[in-house]
Amino acid sequence: MKITFYGHASLGIQVDDVHILVDPFISANPKASDVDIDNLKADYILVTHAHQDHIVDVEAIAKRTGAVVVSNFEIVSYYEKLGIEGHPMNHGGKWDFEFGMVKYVNAIHTSSFPDGSYGGQPGGFVIEGERKNIYIAGDTALTYDMKLIPLQTKLDLAILPIGDNFTMGIDDAILASDFIQCDKVLGYHYDTFGYIEIDHEDAKRKFFEKDKDLMLLEINHFIEL
Ligand code: NI
Ligand code: MN
Repeated sequence: MKITFYGHASLGIQVDDVHILVDPFISANPKASDVDIDNLKADYILVTHAHQDHIVDVEAIAKRTGAVVVSNFEIVSYYEKLGIEGHPMNHGGKWDFEFGMVKYVNAIHTSSFPDGSYGGQPGGFVIEGERKNIYIAGDTALTYDMKLIPLQTKLDLAILPIGDNFTMGIDDAILASDFIQCDKVLGYHYDTFGYIEIDHEDAKRKFFEKDKDLMLLEINHFIEL
């Protein structure tokens, strides 16, 4: 499994030959100007919730690639009206896709589209690939619901928001890492806007002091599991 960071909360995940994009917010992110969205491959686009900073490029990429949008029922219905293929889910439900099992799990946040229309309830994704398992938390507060995840899935990596203000910050992400029983964390949802700027070295040190590993990727850089 290869995971590429495209800035903010945008990720590319490659499982064997299948390309998955998560929350593409690239064309409107000045920090991601080196990412060429016209060349991003996508068989599936996973969308955690409907906020602008998670969906801005969903329509264009889905129409170009024919990717299937996977999200909650309301978000998938929104894109189906635009002629985009979707796979609707809802909280607690899982589905076996060609690349692995996906479960849509709880997130504590909000989820309206930029025009104010209803975007369902926000979520995150647990993905059980053929060899590696990951958790993409989406925008969320720390929540006891996270303790449910390790009852069923042994995680190899957790992708957690760390920017604070709109989501968990560093201290709560460390507690989340305990709740999900995964000490290997890729941080996201930080530095994009003034409200969510963080001190990278301080964040990494706080994780290190708890015997945890916080990775912060440069845009377009990737890790392999
Ligand atoms: Ni949000
Ligand atoms: Mn967000």
